[in-house]
Amino acid sequence: MPQSTDDGVATQAHNLPLLATREICSGKTYIVTGANVGLGFEAAKHLAVLGAGRVILAVRTPSKGETAKAAIDAAAGTGGTDVVQVWPLDLEKFDSVKAFVKRAAAELERIDAVIENAGVALVTREMAEGHVKPVTVNVLSTFLMAVLLVPVMREKAKRVGGTPNIVIVTSRAGFDEKCHADWEGIKEDPIRGMDSEEMVPVKTYPLSKLTETFAAGHLAREVIPVDKGGVVINLICPGLCVTELGRNAPPEMFSRLKALHDAYGRTAEDGSRTLLHGAVAGVESHGKFLHSCQDGEPVVPDWVKNETELQKNTWDLIAKELEVIEPGCVSKLL
Ligand SMILES: NC(=O)c1ccc[n+]([C@@H]2O[C@H](COP(=O)([O-])OP(=O)(O)OC[C@H]3O[C@@H](n4cnc5c(N)ncnc54)[C@H](OP(=O)(O)O)[C@@H]3O)[C@@H](O)[C@H]2O)c1
Repeated sequence: MPQSTDDGVATQAHNLPLLATREICSGKTYIVTGANVGLGFEAAKHLAVLGAGRVILAVRTPSKGETAKAAIDAAAGTGGTDVVQVWPLDLEKFDSVKAFVKRAAAELERIDAVIENAGVALVTREMAEGHVKPVTVNVLSTFLMAVLLVPVMREKAKRVGGTPNIVIVTSRAGFDEKCHADWEGIKEDPIRGMDSEEMVPVKTYPLSKLTETFAAGHLAREVIPVDKGGVVINLICPGLCVTELGRNAPPEMFSRLKALHDAYGRTAEDGSRTLLHGAVAGVESHGKFLHSCQDGEPVVPDWVKNETELQKNTWDLIAKELEVIEPGCVSKLL
């Protein structure tokens, strides 16, 4: 769960630039998943303060979303308006993802960026929709939401202009050598590997993020280049940030994580600037890994970057699952 100090955390930058500006965001519509706490909350707050016309807080517990909305309304001066809205989204349930996208298609005039931020890190083996939760939440539902949204966002953009963004919030925690060794054992079928009863549950978080990275690069570059898909899809790693992500960690791991947070952690607000970078980055960011509000490709190891066949294989496995969940969703991407 925690990132170790040998993967760049000790040297990570602080006080990142805020690349989303009032000029860019004013009047636009944004969706942020997992916006009730942590990085998602801070990113949504920035967007509201920057004058966004609509900020959808996509959360699994509406009461937590309402608490977040009240805080954001107070910070942005949007109280009493419907600029910030709380919509239910539970990534443990595929039907919830489908209902959310249907609602977005029907109710939103435009969607300028979707920040797919919600994610889960667990230390016990828990299942949802027939898979361990990090697979369901971090991988399958995240990509289901992306593939369902691409045609919706493309159609809306044809009417209002611009090229919208989908930001997949991943992690370079999957790039460390321990995760690499685990990946070698499951890389031919990472979904089955993570779901296996032999898999140590705590390993599924970095492996699920690595799976996202492998698949998203191929999806963006090879399946839906911007000229065909009409949407920029990029990946960002927020770096090590002080949030509630480690809430499920047992005491000893929690203390180690806290020590790393104390020594090197970005505040959630600082880390949220990386999400906003993804939301406003141009077409040159399509299929790219972003980090510290800049091109993050230099931090992607060769065993990830150069494995194009494995990237395709990982995407194909996910696409097969998505076609069962919602027949036609991958073929309708173009
Ligand atoms: N913090 C870091 O150091 C770090 C580093 C690298 C990457 N990341 C990534 O950054 C993203 C945000 O994490 P964070 O650090 O801000 O952690 P966080 O404070 O734990 O926030 C996670 C968010 O995801 C939501 N979520 C979890 N399961 C969900 C589900 N089934 N359906 C809908 N929402 C769900 C949570 O909602 P509830 O509050 O209802 O649980 C919460 O809003 C994650 O994708 C994480 O992997 C974080």
